[in-house]
Amino acid sequence: MGEKELRVSKIRDGTVIDHLTAGQALNVLAILGIDGSGGESVSIGMNIPSDRLARKDIVKVEGRELSQSEVDVLSVISPEATINIVREYEVVDKKRVERPEEVTGVVSCPNRNCITNADEPVASRFEVLSDGLRCGYCGEIVREDEVATNLDVN
Ligand code: CTP
Ligand code: ZN
Repeated sequence: MGEKELRVSKIRDGTVIDHLTAGQALNVLAILGIDGSGGESVSIGMNIPSDRLARKDIVKVEGRELSQSEVDVLSVISPEATINIVREYEVVDKKRVERPEEVTGVVSCPNRNCITNADEPVASRFEVLSDGLRCGYCGEIVREDEVATNLDVN
């Protein structure tokens, strides 16, 4: 890529979340619980022309790798995403996200009466549908576009 085309700088160590569905970058930050207060260096590209997708978003986080639950939730809002682990400027691991059968933690159930919202030590668990999530306890549906507003982070 020529100098004129470089949009987001390379990172030294951390994670590049690439091929995100255009428009999802800020939701990805929400899933990662990143709001700037943690001090990590974060670069974001939105609506970047891409070969594989017409447009993509990209998020680069220095000094941080993602947990499996974070990747699981990310796959719901960005099924084409690629997770690249970077060390000393080199991509040392690259994998496509996979849609898991269920996701635990990270998302909270929007049903106020759900057992997961009571003062009980019950962690959230959702079945992954083609277009959203279904609470494993009360059956409440969280549509794909509602996932970001029902995160159990921060
Ligand atoms: N990247 C980065 N910092 C690095 C190395 C790579 O920000 N030190 C970014 C690249 O800009 C790219 C992504 O990580 O967006 C994946 O890098 P790479 O595998 O080198 O690029 P491609 O081969 O184009 O990846 P893909 O085939 O997944 O599209
Ligand atoms: Zn529920």
